[in-house]
Amino acid sequence: FNFNILFFLLAYLAGSIPFGLLLAKIFANVNIKEQGSKSIGATNVLRVVKQTNPKLAKKLSIATVVLDALKGTIVLLIAIALGASQSTLWGIGVLAVLGHCYSIFLSLEGGKGVATGLGIFLVLIPIPTIIGAIVWVVCGKVLKISSLSSLLGLTAVIISALFINNGLGVNSNAPMYIIAFIVYYKHLPNIIRLIKGEEKRVI
Ligand code: G3P
Repeated sequence: FNFNILFFLLAYLAGSIPFGLLLAKIFANVNIKEQGSKSIGATNVLRVVKQTNPKLAKKLSIATVVLDALKGTIVLLIAIALGASQSTLWGIGVLAVLGHCYSIFLSLEGGKGVATGLGIFLVLIPIPTIIGAIVWVVCGKVLKISSLSSLLGLTAVIISALFINNGLGVNSNAPMYIIAFIVYYKHLPNIIRLIKGEEKRVI
């Protein structure tokens, strides 16, 4: 029996859990799929919940980043503990991000894959990811535009990974580009708004 299929299924299902949507619904009684950018990620949790409860918004958005990152990481760690191959690990990464962006529980709608991608990259290409995370946080603080900071952080991961090969992803980073593509692709509406100068800041 090929256990990879089980790992991939688990990764896709775990990735599909829309933590942001659930937390915002349970604790703030709002549907973030109908407000703001309509995305289910931490940024939209912050944006939408902030309108009624800024303190809660911050907490829920941090919880969303952590849980969205962990849902891929946990499946990866289980697979590593069971001795999965490197290509299986990257497959898990791709499927967790796909689950987040095209959730089985949301008729294949979902988020933009930044937090889930971060959780995956942190395990598979840690040093480039730490560099990207620093770029993400610094740009976030300076620019205060979440999507642009995410895109710059992701780009920093990709560029650093060209020069720094480390961690478990050492021999084949190719699936990294698939994950990056999904994340860029899901940001297309943001990119269009950025070009038009219409992207909303989250302050
Ligand atoms: O992490 C998602 C972020 O990059 C953009 O989210 O809600 O502003 O489209 P949003």
